[in-house]
Amino acid sequence: MRYAAITGWGMAVPERVLTNADLERMVDTSDEWIVSRTGIRERRVVGPNDSTTSLSAAAARQAMAQAGLDIDDIDLIVVATCTPDQFLVSEACLVQAELGGRAGAFDIGAACAGFVSALAVGSQFIQTGAHDRVLVIGADTLSRFVDYTDRSTCILFGDGAGAVVLEATEQPRGLLSTVLGADGAGYKHLYIPGWGAFVPETAELFPEYRPHLQMNGREVFRFAVNVMGDSAAEAVAKAGLSFADIDMLIPHQANQRIIDAAARRLGLPRERVWVNLDRYGNTSAASVPIALAEAAAAGALQEEDNLVLVAFGGGLAWAAGVVRWGVAGVARRVPAVEVAVGAGV
Ligand code: COA
Repeated sequence: MRYAAITGWGMAVPERVLTNADLERMVDTSDEWIVSRTGIRERRVVGPNDSTTSLSAAAARQAMAQAGLDIDDIDLIVVATCTPDQFLVSEACLVQAELGGRAGAFDIGAACAGFVSALAVGSQFIQTGAHDRVLVIGADTLSRFVDYTDRSTCILFGDGAGAVVLEATEQPRGLLSTVLGADGAGYKHLYIPGWGAFVPETAELFPEYRPHLQMNGREVFRFAVNVMGDSAAEAVAKAGLSFADIDMLIPHQANQRIIDAAARRLGLPRERVWVNLDRYGNTSAASVPIALAEAAAAGALQEEDNLVLVAFGGGLAWAAGVVRWGVAGVARRVPAVEVAVGAGV
């Protein structure tokens, strides 16, 4: 039986920091309100020369270096994003233009649930024997679509990218179970209206060039609290494990209260939940792989640890899975190197 071990990881965030104090000067809000309702203290936002592509490429380079591979070793690039730099072509091809190589390249669109969904897709290409090495990236630059006069949304989002390299092994490593779900009927609770092919009234509705992200925070909160815990628990059961077997929860970083609810559901204490939303806010598809890369770089993940990855977001979509950490059984041609993750771009 083939599995898809995670052998490399990386992350990139823009250098520009947007603090709660900065937002206090932009909208009617306060650091106290933002921290108590969300847990977020600052986020990174792209500057004029940063892009979903530049962040993705930086994270991918780290992940490949960590795995001891270069781009010509990669068979497939899958990018999860809802903010590609262009509609035509795929973000994965833009990333490939930066990195080189001739791997297959395509995108996955599942908003904040995108990376865990893409991890499932990439893993399956390895499990079926179709490919041996897959690069999976989660990247978003939602700050380009956030309305910085809307205090209910502009406090939440940041930009970034995270990446992993998957490689074939016969040992049970990588994704052991997957839970994917969506409730398309609820799409208007979190969306960017008017950014697509079908926009009959664009000019009238959106006189400015860019449409903005719109969100019904309370509905999304209610949905998230239920679906994070339920899908995480389902992923654990599907992997044939119990909550006691879980070493670390790597949740989508949207709101501390939502993360706490998911952790309670799995019976996990805070020290076994990776949280970085205080520094990055909600980076959409990048949030889970950034958290994963940070946890790995901090030495918090050991061979054979069982991790729960769980995310929710626009769609409304959700995705969860159990990952067994480690590289046992991976045929290495080049020794892996220690790579410092987290450099800004
Ligand atoms: N600063 C100060 N006050 C704010 C504010 C801000 N940034 N944003 C909203 N408020 C106000 C509201 O206007 C409201 O005032 P009112 O009672 O006078 O109408 C009050 O705070 C409470 O608003 P409410 O929306 O009920 O707050 P909340 O406790 O639900 O928190 C969110 C709002 C957005 C933080 C919360 O709903 C949330 O995190 N939802 C999920 C969003 C999410 O994760 N989206 C991404 C998914 S991938």
